[in-house]
Amino acid sequence: MTKKGERAVVRGLKDVAAAETKISFVEPKGFLYYLGYNIDDLVGRVVYPEVAFLLIHKRLPNRQELDQFNACLISEMKLPERMVESIRATPKSCHPMDILRTEVSRLGECDPENNDLSEAANLRRATRLVARVPTIVATIHRVRLDKPIPVPREDFSFTENFLYMFKGSPPEEAETDVLHRLMILQADHGFNASTFAARVTASTNSDMYSAVTSAIGTLKGPLHGGAGEKVMEMLDDIGLEEHVEEYIQGLLDENKKIMGFGHRVYKAEDPRTKHLRGIVRNLCYRDRTNSLCNKCSKIEKIVHDRKKIYPNLDFYSAVAMDALDVPKEFFTPFFASSRISGWVAHVIEQYEDAVLLRPSSKYVGEFGRKFIPIEQR
Ligand code: CMC
Repeated sequence: MTKKGERAVVRGLKDVAAAETKISFVEPKGFLYYLGYNIDDLVGRVVYPEVAFLLIHKRLPNRQELDQFNACLISEMKLPERMVESIRATPKSCHPMDILRTEVSRLGECDPENNDLSEAANLRRATRLVARVPTIVATIHRVRLDKPIPVPREDFSFTENFLYMFKGSPPEEAETDVLHRLMILQADHGFNASTFAARVTASTNSDMYSAVTSAIGTLKGPLHGGAGEKVMEMLDDIGLEEHVEEYIQGLLDENKKIMGFGHRVYKAEDPRTKHLRGIVRNLCYRDRTNSLCNKCSKIEKIVHDRKKIYPNLDFYSAVAMDALDVPKEFFTPFFASSRISGWVAHVIEQYEDAVLLRPSSKYVGEFGRKFIPIEQR
C-alpha cells in the first residue's frame, strides 16, 4: 500500500516473487538450475524421463527407478478411444494448440481415479499427464495427415516413442538424441507465465487437469511458447540470407519485436541458447537447417548490436524442431509436451504450499455514477 487505500502496482508482476519454489531457479546472470542441478551438467548426460522424474520426485532416479518410470510412461501413452474419436471429429482448420487444450481437459473426464485427490494419486496423475500430452500431440498430427496412429512400442524409450508416434516410422538415434536434449531444455523454467497460470488454478484446490489446461492456454500466446512458430514464420518470410539485414533492420526501425528475442529475467544470454546452437549446428549437414542457421546468426548479431538483447529458448528451438521435420504449428505443442513435466511438478508443490494465489488490484475507475434505468438510456 502507498497512501491510505492506494495500492502500488507492479506492472507485469516484474521481479515479484509470488511464492517459494525448490523446483527450478532462473538466475538473471544466465544460469538455470533444476532442483539444484545446473542444466549444463544435465544436457547430454541424462535422458528426458530422468529430468521428468527429477522434477516430479525432487531427486534423480537410480537405474532401476528410471527403467520403471520409462516403462510406466510407455504403458500410459495409449489414449482412450473416445479421445482419439474426439480428435478425429475436430475440423482440420483448428490450430493443434486449441485441440491440445481441449483434449487435456478431456483427459480429466477419463481419469480412472477422478475423486482421489491424495498425494499418491496426484503423483500417478502427474506421470499420466507427462505420458499423454505427447501422445495427444502425435495423434493430432497423424489424424490431420489421415495416417494411422502407431501403437507405442515397449522396446522403444518414451522419447523415441513420442517421435515414432508423431512421424509414423522409427526415428534415427540422432533424432531421438536431439529430442531428449530439447525436451530437457524445455522442461521447466521458474515462474514463467504458463507455470504461474497452472499454480494459480492449483491454488484454489482445483484438479491437476484444470491447472494444466490453464497452462496450455497461457503457453499458446506468442509472447510465451507461441513465439517459436512466429520465429519460423519470420525466417521463412525473410527468404534468402542476403535479405536478413534489410528485413530485421526494418522491423527494428518500426519498433516491432523480433520473435525469439528478449527475456523477462535473463540479463545475459539465456543459458539454454548455447545448447540449442550446438544442437542445430550438428544438424547443418541438412541444407535447410544450414540456411536457417546462417540467417539466425545474422539476426542474432543485428538484434544484439541494436537492442543489446539475446535470443531466448524459442529462437533456436524452432530450428531444431524444423530439423526434426516438425511442422511449425506443432512447435508449441512440442514445447507443451516437455513443459508438462514442470507444470505437474509445480502443481504438486502448490498443493503442498496450500495458499490461495489471489493478488489485489488498484482500482482506477469511477465512483458515484448516476444510475439511469434502461428505458431512459
Ligand atoms: N525485439 C525487440 N525489442 C525487444 C524484444 C524483442 N523481442 N524484447 C524486448 N525488447 C525491448 C523492448 O522494446 C524494450 O525496449 P525499450 O526499453 O527501449 O522500450 C525492452 O527490450 C524491454 O522489453 P519488454 O517487452 O518491456 O520486456 P518484458 O520483460 O516485458 O518482455 C518478452 C519479455 C519475452 C515478452 C519480450 O522480450 C518479447 O516480447 N519477446 C518476443 C517474444 C518472445 O520471444 N517470447 C518468448 C519468451 S521466452 C521463452 C518462453 O517463455 O516461451
